[in-house]
Amino acid sequence: METQILSRSRGWLDLAKKYIKDGEVVAFHTETVYGLGANAFSDDAVLKIFELKGRPQDNPLIVHVHKDYDISLLIDSEPFYAAALRKAFLPGPLTMVYPSTGRVSKYVSCGLDTLAIRMPSSPTAQEFLKAVDLPIAAPSANLSKHVSPVTARHVYEDFNGKIPLILDGGACRGGIESTVLDCTGEIPQILREGLVTREMIASVAGDCGIYHAKQGEKPKSPGMAYKHYSPRCKTAFFRENQTEEAVALYHEAETAGEKPCFLCERDVCALLPNFRTLDLGGSGEEMARKLYALLRKGEKTATLLIGIEPREKGGVMAGVLNRMHRAFGVEHGPEES
Ligand code: TXA
Ligand code: MG
Repeated sequence: METQILSRSRGWLDLAKKYIKDGEVVAFHTETVYGLGANAFSDDAVLKIFELKGRPQDNPLIVHVHKDYDISLLIDSEPFYAAALRKAFLPGPLTMVYPSTGRVSKYVSCGLDTLAIRMPSSPTAQEFLKAVDLPIAAPSANLSKHVSPVTARHVYEDFNGKIPLILDGGACRGGIESTVLDCTGEIPQILREGLVTREMIASVAGDCGIYHAKQGEKPKSPGMAYKHYSPRCKTAFFRENQTEEAVALYHEAETAGEKPCFLCERDVCALLPNFRTLDLGGSGEEMARKLYALLRKGEKTATLLIGIEPREKGGVMAGVLNRMHRAFGVEHGPEES
C-alpha cells in the first residue's frame, strides 16, 4: 500500500471520507499529536488500529467528534460540572470520560462501560471529522511504546506502506497528548495530565482530583501502566540537581565510543556549551511543544540520550514531566508501580 501525505487541497477530505467509509485507517493532525483514526462504529476498523500499532487489547481508545456532533448518542449521562468544562475548554486538548451508551464498537473501550470523548480544536481535525460525520476512534499515530508523532513525517516513519493517507496539518502546537479526565464521579479526576491543567479544571469545576492507581490495583486508565513515548536509543535520566553526574556519564560514554547527547531546558543547555545538546526551551508550553520532536531527533542523532529534569514542576509541566519520566523509564509517582 502506498501512503499518501496530503495537505489541504481540493478533494483531500473526499478521499479521507472514502477510506474511512471503506473501513480503512487514516492519520490526521490534531492540536496535541497526530491521531490514527477509524470509524468507531466498526469492529473491524477499530481492531485494525490495535493491529497496526501493536497496541495491547486492554488499552482503550479515545473517540473524536466534530464540534456539532450530538454526543448524547454516545454518552449516557453528564454531571453538571462536565457540561461547564465542555463549554470552557472544548474544542481543545481535553478528553472526557463518561458512562457509555454502548453504541460504538465494544473494542473502543476494551470492555469498560465508559467512553473517552475528545473534540480537537485543530482545523484539520475538525474539517476531517465534519466530512466523515462519524465518531472516529483514534490513538496517537505511533507504534505502541514509541514516541508520539507531532509531524506528518513522524507518522510516515512509523506507518509508511501500512495506511493509505495522512492528513497533514503541519507541526502540532500542543505537543503532548490531551488531558484525560474521568467525568463519572462526584468531582472530575485527571487520569492523564496534559495541556488543560488541574488548576484550569478546578477553576471551572470547583475541584479536581488526580488519579493514582494503588499498588496491585488495575489502573482506571490502562495506558498509564505501560512504558511509553520511548526513543529508540539508550537513555539515562538525572534530576535537576545532578548535572555533574550527567556530565560525568557523558564523558564516560564518549570514551566508550558512544555518541551521547543531553536533552534539557534552555538554561541548562547554556551551561553546557561544549556538549551536544537538544534544547527543550524555557516555558512549560514550549517544552511540551518540543519534547516529542526532540526525542525523535535524539534517537536519530545520538546513541545515548541523557535527560535532565527541568526545574519547574507546576501547571503544564506536570504533563511534560509525566511524559519525560515515561520516555526515560523513570518512576513517575504511584501509578507507575
Ligand atoms: O491528544 C490525544 O489524546 C491524542 C490525539 C490523537 O487525540 N490521542 C491519544 O490517544 O493520546 P492514546 O490512545 O494514545 O491515549 C488514550 C489514553 C490512554 O491512556 C487510555 O488508557 C485512556 O486514554 N482512555 C481511553 N479510553 C478510556 C476510558 N474509557 N477510561 C479511562 N481511560 C481511557
Ligand atoms: Mg499514545
